[in-house]
Amino acid sequence: MTPHIEAKKEDIKKIVIMPGDPKRAELIANKFLDNYKIVSNVRGMTTYTGTYKQKEVTIMPCGMGIASMGIYSYELFKFYDVDEIIKVGTCGCYIDNLDMGDLILVDGSYSESTYAKVQDNNSDVIMYSDEYLNNIILDTSKKINKKIKRGIIHCSDVFYEEDEEYKKVLYERYKCIACEMESFSLFHNAKKFDKKATEILTVTDNLVTGDRLSSDDRENKVNDMLVLALESVLRL
Ligand code: HPA
Repeated sequence: MTPHIEAKKEDIKKIVIMPGDPKRAELIANKFLDNYKIVSNVRGMTTYTGTYKQKEVTIMPCGMGIASMGIYSYELFKFYDVDEIIKVGTCGCYIDNLDMGDLILVDGSYSESTYAKVQDNNSDVIMYSDEYLNNIILDTSKKINKKIKRGIIHCSDVFYEEDEEYKKVLYERYKCIACEMESFSLFHNAKKFDKKATEILTVTDNLVTGDRLSSDDRENKVNDMLVLALESVLRL
């Protein structure tokens, strides 16, 4: 038990898939897991452990933002001996040549966040995902015929970004193709504890043109991302 997770240690498995939204965690468990049980429910972050095609896996929501992800990933790696976390989520994109519904495998996460500096006196502004996990996901994507692009993304503390110039700077300076809000602390904590983490994103918003995926399309595309994450888990 930790301040934020009430599960018994053995009830959290070595591989954890983390959506941001507790409702999406519930959906993943209902739709894809066999014999699952709820293993933690602190603050409504309902956590499910079960099997996907006989492989044990835990589905735990991380909430929104670097700070929330920082807490859960720290506790999972340090106190629950979790080895691998795959974050699944949605993102807004900064460039024209991504389409709504595209999947992105996150190579690295640029952030203005002080998370790594305060946590560990680490001043790096880009945290990288794990190459071993990424190769498995890329391989799996080919096997199951789901296209995925790779890139650096911006991990922001701000959802309502209104400075258009700054988005251009982020693309020009760091090659940030899209924006989400959690990967920076996840990748930092994974490196700190010598563990593995990566993130798969579905593009649901274009932050330059204002385009948005309709809710039906959103569910279909998010489903592709979840299948890719779960099928990748089978190969770990
Ligand atoms: N910003 C940050 N995170 C997001 C967005 C966004 O526009 N869309 C989906 N996740």
